[in-house]
Amino acid sequence: MTAQIELSQVNKHYGAYHALKDINLTIEKGSFVALVGPSGCGKSTLLRSLAGLEKITAGRLTIAGAEMTAVPPRKRDIAMVFQSYALYPHMTVEENLIYPLRMRGVSKTNAKAKAQEVAGFTGLSGLLTRYPRQLSGGQRQRVAMGRAVIRSPKAFLFDEPLSNLDAALRVSMRKEIRALHDRLGATSVYVTHDQIEAMTMADHVVVMRDGVIEQQGAPLTLYDRPENRFVAGFIGSPAMNFIAARAVDGASIALDLPGQPVIAVDRKGAAPLAPGQAVTAGLRPEHLRIVDGESGSDHQAFTLPVRLIESTGSLTYLSLGDTGDISLVEHGREHLRPGDRLTLTIDPGLVHLFDPETGRRV
Ligand SMILES: Nc1ncnc2c1ncn2[C@@H]1O[C@H](COP(=O)(O)OP(=O)(O)OP(=O)(O)O)[C@@H](O)[C@H]1O
Ligand SMILES: [Mg+2]
Repeated sequence: MTAQIELSQVNKHYGAYHALKDINLTIEKGSFVALVGPSGCGKSTLLRSLAGLEKITAGRLTIAGAEMTAVPPRKRDIAMVFQSYALYPHMTVEENLIYPLRMRGVSKTNAKAKAQEVAGFTGLSGLLTRYPRQLSGGQRQRVAMGRAVIRSPKAFLFDEPLSNLDAALRVSMRKEIRALHDRLGATSVYVTHDQIEAMTMADHVVVMRDGVIEQQGAPLTLYDRPENRFVAGFIGSPAMNFIAARAVDGASIALDLPGQPVIAVDRKGAAPLAPGQAVTAGLRPEHLRIVDGESGSDHQAFTLPVRLIESTGSLTYLSLGDTGDISLVEHGREHLRPGDRLTLTIDPGLVHLFDPETGRRV
């Protein structure tokens, strides 16, 4: 694979504010990359820097091998789709679609033929003569995408394009965007604060916080092996439980819960723990298993009271522990009541450990 976009040691300052810190990122040609992280972490700044709408203050940015620092936005051959569709209200759908081509000197006949084609695969065929105000939110978003794809830019940049849409439409539009990306063999960079969107759409997920890339990789790698507590807590829903603990020996820990229950951990080749070493144990809600009361004597099991039970029909969410801050999610239904005591276990291979001070995986 070849790199379509490459950032090395990219920094961005807004005056004294350091918005991007030493960003290193390679975006392969044909890949779908998601930038995800909490509000204010620098996602839009990074995207706008790729488009040339922000000037980076240090580092190197190349697109298709060419150095971009001095290249203005319209010469970068990149298309952007925003949350606000930015359609021209006084133009029809067709006029909106062909606008980027007309700007580049394509004849009206050729541009209209291209608009027909794009309308066909974006589901806009019957809507070409309408004005934006006569469209639904989803249809407007399709026009914005159609306008981006009508020429074949080197990359598509999306900045939270679906956040104005309702939940059901978001789910169907994310499939459409991914299908469009595959059909065009495009290179796409997609900003979202929704980790589910990032995980389901992208080949490569970049998790940012405070201007720094915390971790990047394949979606399931981030889920299976988060390199630090921040990524562990950000990826996965409901969020991972973090419980203070202490190593008992090289491969087991005592959780800081009533009774100090001891559970085994699989170090998978990592250095054994030092007895007494403080760690933060990360247990995903979907990895906690409820076992029969009798196996409560098993030293790998631990017991917690039920505080709250929430069911969606297909899933049951439980809040456990004296303060109810340990969550568990199960398929199906549980016939439980607040105050019941549950005996739980977890596969030693699914226990994540972090350094309580640095947050790094240990
Ligand atoms: N023009 C500007 N001048 C000064 N600071 C700015 C400017 N633009 C953005 N910032 C700051 O840079 C940081 C990153 O902003 P950015 O818009 O990239 O965040 P984001 O990750 O896209 O957040 P959101 O999810 O809320 O859209 C924020 O703290 C923001 O206040
Ligand atoms: Mg933003």
